Amino acid sequence: MTRSIEFFDQQFARSASAAALALNPFETLALPYLQGEVLDFGSGMGNLAFAASRQGCRVTALDASQAAVAHMQQRATAEALPVRAEQADLRQYPIGADYDGIVSIGLLMFFDCATARKVLAELQQHVRPGGIAAVNVLIEGTTYLDMFEPTEHCLFTATELQQHFAGWDIVQNELSTFEAPSNTVKRFATVIARKPA
Ligand SMILES: C[S@@+](CC[C@H](N)C(=O)[O-])C[C@H]1O[C@@H](n2cnc3c(N)ncnc32)[C@H](O)[C@@H]1O
Repeated sequence: MTRSIEFFDQQFARSASAAALALNPFETLALPYLQGEVLDFGSGMGNLAFAASRQGCRVTALDASQAAVAHMQQRATAEALPVRAEQADLRQYPIGADYDGIVSIGLLMFFDCATARKVLAELQQHVRPGGIAAVNVLIEGTTYLDMFEPTEHCLFTATELQQHFAGWDIVQNELSTFEAPSNTVKRFATVIARKPA
């Protein structure tokens, strides 16, 4: 288990509070664009997956955290919602289908850069024509590094994520900075883009 998976697994096992189950700002930004069949790649507790399923999406939610996947499976059964949750190490996960929407919020920075770029290309390949990709990563300038493996993480430049979507219709493109513990910051890039039909 990598440091990031352990970090989140322990966090998810501790808390299923209302605050932990609320959508974060990036999930809130992505939600209105989702329809049809959706893949949430690095779903965490599945907050976006469940919100999307409530607006009619059929969602596959993947994450390495056993605690998060167990929570999602229980919630899908309890609320009779079309969310299929599966535990997987997404550094090397063959995506076996195409989707109307693929979301990956806060995942790719936990991979080495070659893997992050390869996985991003794989995600893009599995979005159907006219479908949506919503991707969020930490970028250069981030000084909160506690949850990273020292030798296995990737901070894109501020413009790199949007550059990977050349030829797509970019419908949202945001840079944001949040304060983090011990006077550090997290800097994010978020791109939501539609694949040419
Ligand atoms: C910052 S959280 C984001 C979760 C969710 N997308 C959100 O926006 O709240 C990062 C997630 O990546 C997962 N993760 C980290 N490394 C992973 C890996 N190698 N394979 C699968 N999931 C991983 C963690 O378990 C955690 O759920």
